[in-house]
Amino acid sequence: MFVPVLLLLVTLCAVGGHGEEPKRPGHVSVVIVGATGDLAKKYLWNGFFQLYVKQVSSGNTFSFYGGGQSPADKANPLLFEILKSVSCSKGVSEERCALLKEQFLRLAQYRQLRTLEHYQDLAKHIEKRLQEEGITEAGRLFYLSVPAFAYADIADKINNSCRPTSGAWLRVVLEKPFGHDSTSAQMLASQLGASLREEEMYRIDHYLGKQVIAKILPFRIQNKKFLDPIWNKHHIERVEIVMKETLDVRGRIPFYDQYGVIRDVIQNHLTEVMMLLTMRLPRNLTSSEEVVENKLRILSSLLPLGKNQAVIGQYQAYKSEVQQELNKTKHHISVTPTFAAVLAHIDETQYEGVPVLLISGKMLDERIVFHLGHGSLQYPAILVSKNLFKPALMEEQREAYEELISHIFAGQKNSFISVENLLASWDLWTPLLTSLSSSFPRIYPGGADNEDLLDFCLTGKDIRYKSEVVIISPDQMGGMAPNGFQVIQGKFRSSDMVSAWAEELVEQLAADVQEAAEAAVRESGVFHLALSGGSSPIALFHRLVRHHFSFPWRDTHVWMVDERCVPETELESNFFTIYNLLLQHVRIPYFNIHPMPVQLNHRLCVEEDRGAQLYEKDINNLVNGSSFHFVLLGAGYDGHTASLFPGTKVEEYGESLVVLTESPVKPHQRMSLTFSAINRARTVALLVMGKGKHELVTQLSRMKDNPEKWPVTGVKPANGRLVWYIDYDALLGQ
Ligand SMILES: *[C@@H]1O[C@H](CO)[C@@H](O)[C@H](O)[C@H]1NC(C)=O
Ligand SMILES: *[C@@H]1O[C@H](CO)[C@@H](O)[C@H](O)[C@H]1NC(C)=O
Ligand SMILES: *[C@@H]1O[C@H](CO)[C@@H](O)[C@H](O)[C@H]1NC(C)=O
Ligand SMILES: *[C@@H]1O[C@H](CO)[C@@H](O)[C@H](O)[C@H]1NC(C)=O
Repeated sequence: MFVPVLLLLVTLCAVGGHGEEPKRPGHVSVVIVGATGDLAKKYLWNGFFQLYVKQVSSGNTFSFYGGGQSPADKANPLLFEILKSVSCSKGVSEERCALLKEQFLRLAQYRQLRTLEHYQDLAKHIEKRLQEEGITEAGRLFYLSVPAFAYADIADKINNSCRPTSGAWLRVVLEKPFGHDSTSAQMLASQLGASLREEEMYRIDHYLGKQVIAKILPFRIQNKKFLDPIWNKHHIERVEIVMKETLDVRGRIPFYDQYGVIRDVIQNHLTEVMMLLTMRLPRNLTSSEEVVENKLRILSSLLPLGKNQAVIGQYQAYKSEVQQELNKTKHHISVTPTFAAVLAHIDETQYEGVPVLLISGKMLDERIVFHLGHGSLQYPAILVSKNLFKPALMEEQREAYEELISHIFAGQKNSFISVENLLASWDLWTPLLTSLSSSFPRIYPGGADNEDLLDFCLTGKDIRYKSEVVIISPDQMGGMAPNGFQVIQGKFRSSDMVSAWAEELVEQLAADVQEAAEAAVRESGVFHLALSGGSSPIALFHRLVRHHFSFPWRDTHVWMVDERCVPETELESNFFTIYNLLLQHVRIPYFNIHPMPVQLNHRLCVEEDRGAQLYEKDINNLVNGSSFHFVLLGAGYDGHTASLFPGTKVEEYGESLVVLTESPVKPHQRMSLTFSAINRARTVALLVMGKGKHELVTQLSRMKDNPEKWPVTGVKPANGRLVWYIDYDALLGQ
């Protein structure tokens, strides 16, 4: 049985309350460092205004300081504009709102906070005010809305000069990122630890302030009786935590390109959700220690994540956005993933064998649910996309900040990230990030065009993309291909692919033909080779001629893949080319050469002359099981292969091995092997060369089988092997 957690989650939103009140009422100084920045402008000031509105009759008094690098005369007008734009929540009358805003404005002021002296001045100012007004101090709240590299320095200044009078609390709020791997996170933690005590630090993941996330634990606890018996491997088929975004990252590239989707979303947000869903329930929800401890237990029981536990992608336009925003040349490539699906397993009896999927990406299609290779589930276990994260929706972000600010004020640490959790999470993700750092993400077009390009499947503990495609971009090769001469082996349309510069590619193909020949001769004393015409194989013929002494030509039969209906003595004849360039130069017995009988009774390709049937009979008689050892094919711009052209129904040919066909270009009449013949072969090589084929290769890399429209996709040897030989020109288009 499968429990759709999604459905359960939808019902859980109304549970729970706010945190406890601060311990002693008194004066609270709120300092927003980075007061005129984007985040402050959009969410923080408004969040603190809501706090003020809630607390206005609580016995606490407030002052608000906006801090920043600029001198006061410059920043004051800016801050004033921001403060004017705060708004009351519904239910507050217009009059009252105006009054509250006016009070709030009077309580707020800008302070330049750059040097240690500035911080000392601020402290003096706060203390003077406390003395003058004869009020006790409740605490000081610093919200650092600045880049992470500035944290340590500011924390040091706070510790040096801004600690409150004894008995009052100090709370310093930090926003992610908290490092970009284990080492940097550790370093930041120890720097901050030198200035602030752990209980004084509030590491914010605003995502955790979202209602649905915040209510996971209360919901699990409230419904414990019902959920406990089914919260295990027997009832949960898998857990999916998905955060899909339709947006790109334009405008954020300088940050994003250093982080990527795993650091930006999965290491923090989705990992947190996973912990909340799978952790052992605390006996007491208000005990932060127990919550932290249980989360840690889940993190440490996750099996290590390696390369095989993730698939990554990058949306197509990302590259040029990077070039633009980072002012890079056209040659600059980025391997930063904008999509990732990670497969985790929790090594606990309760969850044994339950796959845990963490999926997130930019430029995805909201509507498409990822299809897994097995199972017929309609819903992912928890779909976090629609209801939870839409950066475009300001409302939700605002609420998240409001919620978190009220938790900070209440000193309730559950919704914040502890240093132990943070470091344990980086310990889990860093090895994966390291192993992926040299991998090239699959390029996806974005939106609905992604189709099933990002679908993946699970095999045991591994995850991989469902369709093996080559992404046609030099990025794939790390920019090294154009200089390198190596032959690379890869996958194309789920088959093997060999790729190299043209000369090396042909050399490899020749070596592979020879190896097949020698193996066949060893095994059965004969080698049946079917060759196509066209221009692509010419280089191969040259190559075979040059090294013909070692090739078992004596035991080789050469067949034709297709032929134009012209006399054998004409230039247009495939046979003419093959004979001239290859056969006449090697020691192949005359009777082993099998041209297609396109000319019978002094006429060309007339149905009644039954040339195709004759050739088929020859094949049946000479080739064991009509199974060629090696068939060499090309692919035309329109996707044709052999002389099988778009628009022909495969079924038309029935079981025939050889047929007459019609080409859209002259000479129109052709004779060709059919898929029945081709797909019986032991090895089929599909040779695609030249810049002009780049578009074709790109399309093929993404296309489903559709032999009627793209005949080359009908090449699928039933018991044999298909190998694509694609040169760099065709692969990379450059
Ligand atoms: C803060 O500063 C004091 C004095 O400068 C120092 O002794 C202390 O270790 C610092 N850190 C914390 C967490 O108090
Ligand atoms: C839960 O934990 C909080 C904080 O540690 C404590 O004050 C409270 O008494 C505990 N409640 C129960 C029922 O144990
Ligand atoms: C961007 O590139 C141009 C041309 O290469 C250069 O003149 C300019 O200084 C660069 N700007 C930045 C911000 O790097
Ligand atoms: C013909 O092929 C079959 C099946 O592959 C094989 O068992 C048999 O030995 C082959 N015969 C010859 C003469 O090679």
